[in-house]
Amino acid sequence: MEMSSTTSAASRIAGASVIVGVYENGKKGLGAENVDDATKGVISRLVRQGDITGKLGSCLTLSPVSGVRAQRVVVVGLGKISKFGVSEFRRAVSAAVKQIKDSKIRDVTCYLNLEPVTGADTYYLARYTAETFGNILYSFSETKSGKKPRAAALRKICIAAASRAEANKALKGAQHGNAIADGMSLAKDLGNLPPNVCTPAYLGRTAQKIARQHKSVTTKVLGEAEIKRLGMGSFLSVTSGTTLPAKLIVMQYKGAGRDNPVVLVGKGITFDAGGISLKPGPGMDEMKFDMCGAASVIATMSVIAQLKLPVNLTVVVPTCENLPSGTATRPGDIVTSMSGKTIEILNTDAEGRLILCDALTYSRRFKPEVIIDVATLTGACVIALGHHRTAVMSRSDELAGQITDAGIAADDRAWHMPLADEYEQQLKSNFADFANVGGRDGGAITAGCFLSKFTEDLNWAHLDIAGTAWKSGKDKGSTGRPVPMLSEFVLRRARAIP
Ligand code: BES
Ligand code: MN
Ligand code: ZN
Repeated sequence: MEMSSTTSAASRIAGASVIVGVYENGKKGLGAENVDDATKGVISRLVRQGDITGKLGSCLTLSPVSGVRAQRVVVVGLGKISKFGVSEFRRAVSAAVKQIKDSKIRDVTCYLNLEPVTGADTYYLARYTAETFGNILYSFSETKSGKKPRAAALRKICIAAASRAEANKALKGAQHGNAIADGMSLAKDLGNLPPNVCTPAYLGRTAQKIARQHKSVTTKVLGEAEIKRLGMGSFLSVTSGTTLPAKLIVMQYKGAGRDNPVVLVGKGITFDAGGISLKPGPGMDEMKFDMCGAASVIATMSVIAQLKLPVNLTVVVPTCENLPSGTATRPGDIVTSMSGKTIEILNTDAEGRLILCDALTYSRRFKPEVIIDVATLTGACVIALGHHRTAVMSRSDELAGQITDAGIAADDRAWHMPLADEYEQQLKSNFADFANVGGRDGGAITAGCFLSKFTEDLNWAHLDIAGTAWKSGKDKGSTGRPVPMLSEFVLRRARAIP
């Protein structure tokens, strides 16, 4: 998508469409005010007639409008002025995009950004706008036969700004938002693809494709022989039940010379049947989304590379399947991780931590400034936080705070959960250094505790995205989260936010 910003008045834009807003009490937003003036009161009349109610997300397209140069004016309801916050802003933008998405409109100039929104400035409003366009325009039809739905005609998004200085911030926000939207689309595609297509090798090829697109990115895909040579006995125990080869994907982006990198580690289980500790049948298809951590870190790499940010970023993805078979790992098996620590596998369905611990140990070679793992790790996390918040765990309150702050700014929120020594005794094993499960109580936290045993002395945090990475039911599909939060975290490190 081509992004731009303008300081011209709504009535003077010579494009296919402009979007303006009206509040519920009939108060016109800045764009609507200008259109009203230029048309001798067209909007005021429609408000009086009750055609424009201002109800949040209601939409009316006017075309043609004499006095306005654009071919159409989309009037969106902004709801109550006293309640106009970030989520209302996004709902209004969504409604406008839905209105034009199936039309032939090729360009749009958005004036909603001129409205004051509590909790967001010009940069973030432009970013949310670009992201919302991407989210609403996204569709997945790769695996349907027959005629593909026509791609949206929209090519250009222009954001209105009040001054030249504001226009610069808006443009930056729009460009960042567009890159994040592209990243979210990539993460969604990877999540939505079926597990017989999106295999470990497919994730590896996707990472290699990103390296071909950006010369500042290098990708290495290690096979099982190399994984074995590295001593990753824990990772390899998970893949032992499948015939598909496991991969360890390593991507490096260099934008800041010799600085130590931010390292993102993503869980890449392309299908989680549970192994010998087999999951129940209903809903098991959704375990194709068990690679959404991997998808989100690979996608964040593509965002950062697209924006050419001055930062060093490394992405590490251990990826395999977790299936039952005659060669699968048994409950009771003890494995030796790359760190040398031994693990008693009491439940083969707690496999995410088994692949992540070796990937975290491997990542030490990059001397991470900060290391964050991202995983659809536990059902317990969904019970604790539901589908609105990602769980953050860390031994460092400072790092956890930086992540939750990034989540608030990116409108992709996280919640800090405790990671204290008291929980550790739940992982005691009579036979190995520790067990891979800690019982039902505090299941998301004991999973974090397990990982913390491999990250002592690192500036590390763990994100459990089991509740936020995808939706079930009639809207079943990947959400692209937490790409916005991760991108924000890295953007902040790169001091790239105006
Ligand atoms: N991938 C699952 C976690 C999961 C389950 C995410 C359901 C979203 C919805 C993970 O590998 C898993 O199976 N975890 C077990 C851990 C348990 C055996 C300690 C779980 O949560 O049941
Ligand atoms: Mn599992
Ligand atoms: Zn899993």
